[in-house]
Amino acid sequence: MKNYINIGKYDKELYSYMLQEERRQKDVLEMIPSENYVSQAVLEALGSVLTNKYSEGYPYHRYYQGNRYIDEIETLAIERCKKLFDVPHVNVQPYSGSPANTAVYFALLNPGDKIMGLKLSGGGHLTHGHPGVTFSGKYFNSVQFNVEPDGWLDMDKISDLAKKEKPKMLVVGTTAYPRLFNWKKWRQIADSINAILLTDIAHVAGLVAGGAYPSPVPYADVVMFTTHKTIRGPRGAVLMVTHKGLIRDAEMGKKIDRAVFPGLSGGPHDNVTAAMAVCFKEAASPKFKKYAQQIVKNAKVLADTLIKSGIKLTTDGTDSHLIVMDLRPNKVIGNIVAEALEVVNIVVNYNTVPHDQNPPMYPSGVRLGTPIVTTRGLKENEMKKIAGWITKVIAEVEHYRLPEQKEIRAQFIKKVKAEVWKNKKLATIGKEVKQMAFKFPIFAWD
Ligand SMILES: Cc1ncc(COP(=O)(O)O)c(C=O)c1O
Repeated sequence: MKNYINIGKYDKELYSYMLQEERRQKDVLEMIPSENYVSQAVLEALGSVLTNKYSEGYPYHRYYQGNRYIDEIETLAIERCKKLFDVPHVNVQPYSGSPANTAVYFALLNPGDKIMGLKLSGGGHLTHGHPGVTFSGKYFNSVQFNVEPDGWLDMDKISDLAKKEKPKMLVVGTTAYPRLFNWKKWRQIADSINAILLTDIAHVAGLVAGGAYPSPVPYADVVMFTTHKTIRGPRGAVLMVTHKGLIRDAEMGKKIDRAVFPGLSGGPHDNVTAAMAVCFKEAASPKFKKYAQQIVKNAKVLADTLIKSGIKLTTDGTDSHLIVMDLRPNKVIGNIVAEALEVVNIVVNYNTVPHDQNPPMYPSGVRLGTPIVTTRGLKENEMKKIAGWITKVIAEVEHYRLPEQKEIRAQFIKKVKAEVWKNKKLATIGKEVKQMAFKFPIFAWD
């Protein structure tokens, strides 16, 4: 709150919302696996005078004057990132993960070329070729693979599909697959059809940097990651071209750079670039290595405890930071459990499960993860307690059944939501969760 003194004086309306959001972040256990709480140092860089500058172009080749310090800052971010991931070429200018993936397609494909990625409902991302509504699905010939009904990837099946379809690019990454990707196997599949291999490690970049998840760098041609998830930096994204990528095409780095600017964007957000530099310094520290390992330890304990309590998880567990609860045996939809969890101050998101029969608006799963609670310092014992609360919450709301009649579903959800916020048992659990949250400050990293 000390950061908002002038907003407090000048704009009371905005100030009040910002204070309330800060209070909310303190009071709850945020368990959305794609979020994190950044350090004060990252926040300072984001809120600095660097936001005042325009610097279209790349370090030492700008279209604006006055960039001598910005050049050094962007170079610092690039060099730190190169060292952290052991890659020869880095671009830190993409505004976020979606434009970064788009830049890779723009750089290395022609409209109508074939791409192959994981289905959204199986844990892929919209930018991996989701048909109909997205740029990647509309402007490219998109073929999609899926996870099996148990949630696992069947690599032989995917390999056969790749050989049949011969996509020009394989896009491999996830928002909801809790297991490890066998990057070597993906390379073999790409090599068997001479495809470019783009790995999207938006979710697990921090785990990779901290040595808690295998790195795709020795196998991929291009690696994309967002900087605001497990790696705990500002909102943004990075594109890295690997040694392999440069062997395949010595111009790949230049092509990616040209696609980012001037191809798809204008001036980089220099305050974000500076915050990335801070984030990469933090991510290279021994403390961060421990943090990354603890994220996975916590997720495994949470998963094991949930399973012991009778909750079904996709793939029956996790090797990463995330878990997807499959609520089909409980016969309750994800929306209701997610709402009830928010009532008890545990914030998650509802999600499809593999081969979900329910529509994406009313899916059968809930996705949750451990990056933020680990940032705050929670460990295995707290995970067991959280699993206990989640189990109680599911038991409390599992009698709510989504009506067969589609026309009355929206009204039903509205009514259930109103009821769960008045539920006394949930309110009592909520107090216990809040008491735990109080013990763990949100700037635990500093
Ligand atoms: C695997 C993956 N790729 C790409 C993105 C897109 O990132 P952004 O939301 O920053 O555009 C996400 C974000 O959810 C993601 O999880």
